[in-house]
Amino acid sequence: MLKKNLILVIGLVIFAGSSLIAQDFEYIGAAKCKMCHNKAATGEQYKKWAEGPHANAMKSLSNEKSMEYAKANGIADPTTDAKCIKCHSTAGSIDASKNIGVKSDEGVSCESCHGPGSAYKSKAIMQDHAKSLANGLIVPDQKLCESCHNEKNPFHKPFNYAEYSKKIAHPNPAGK
Ligand code: HEC
Ligand code: HEC
Ligand code: HEC
Ligand code: HEC
Repeated sequence: MLKKNLILVIGLVIFAGSSLIAQDFEYIGAAKCKMCHNKAATGEQYKKWAEGPHANAMKSLSNEKSMEYAKANGIADPTTDAKCIKCHSTAGSIDASKNIGVKSDEGVSCESCHGPGSAYKSKAIMQDHAKSLANGLIVPDQKLCESCHNEKNPFHKPFNYAEYSKKIAHPNPAGK
């Protein structure tokens, strides 16, 4: 019995330790990524994002469609209601204690797809794929997109991963 409890305690300590490491990754906001990812020669990812649907997703929450839906469903303000901002913004979808730089009007920001950047954002780490992954970088896949592109969205449209990926593509023409 004692042995069993000891194993349990050790297990809990290991578990707590690993979740502490995970908690070290914080969200820094797109302005920080912009410093290094806005050059034409390497794909100006910031500009492409800023002009695309995700950066502008908060704007849709005050358009006519949203207002009509809100009125019919007893939502006072879609731009602040968790039911809407949990998919239309990074700030509204993450644990607030981990937000050290994402603005609420930033929409669906870089880090919703690439993971919290506080630890991978340095040049030395970013240039090394394995180190980036170890420091919180996520390589986005279809499943990640579908955490928002699903039927819980009142204005859902069928999600075609290949087609949708092309529409938001921001590759680095210089390779890596
Ligand atoms: C100090 C500069 C710097 C900052 C800040 C920075 N990056 Fe990078 N990032 C790089 C460099 C350098 C590379 C390597 C490729 C290249 O030269 O563009 C890279 C590569 C990447 C890659 C591809 C990595 C891979 O291994 O597949 C992603 C995705 C990325 N950055 C996202 C971000 C995001 C999101 C942020 C903000 C949270 C960010 N970066 C902040 C410099 C930076
Ligand atoms: C955190 C939630 C979230 C994630 C993750 C997400 N999206 Fe989106 N996406 C949205 C929202 C919200 C909109 C609607 C923006 C608007 O117009 O208000 C959108 C819009 C789009 C559009 C424009 C659709 C149109 O009708 O023109 C494309 C394309 C798209 N997303 C592709 C993707 C792809 C590909 C991925 C995964 C790599 C992805 N999205 C991941 C929330 C998300
Ligand atoms: C489960 C995630 C999710 C939730 C919750 C969500 N949305 Fe969206 N919303 C999306 C995505 C993804 C799109 C883009 C769909 C597409 O074009 O494929 C979108 C698109 C929209 C659009 C643009 C529709 C169009 O065709 O022009 C409006 C307006 C909108 N959402 C309003 C709202 C409002 C208001 C709420 C809260 C009541 C809400 N959304 C909740 C994910 C979500
Ligand atoms: C809706 C999700 C989404 C958002 C938001 C997003 N990205 Fe990406 N990003 C992707 C996907 C998908 C890829 C391709 C991943 C792959 O398969 O290599 C990618 C690739 C990249 C790459 C690697 C390009 C290459 O060819 O090496 C960089 C750098 C990058 N993103 C930076 C950014 C930055 C900076 C922002 C914000 C300004 C941002 N991304 C916003 C989904 C997103």
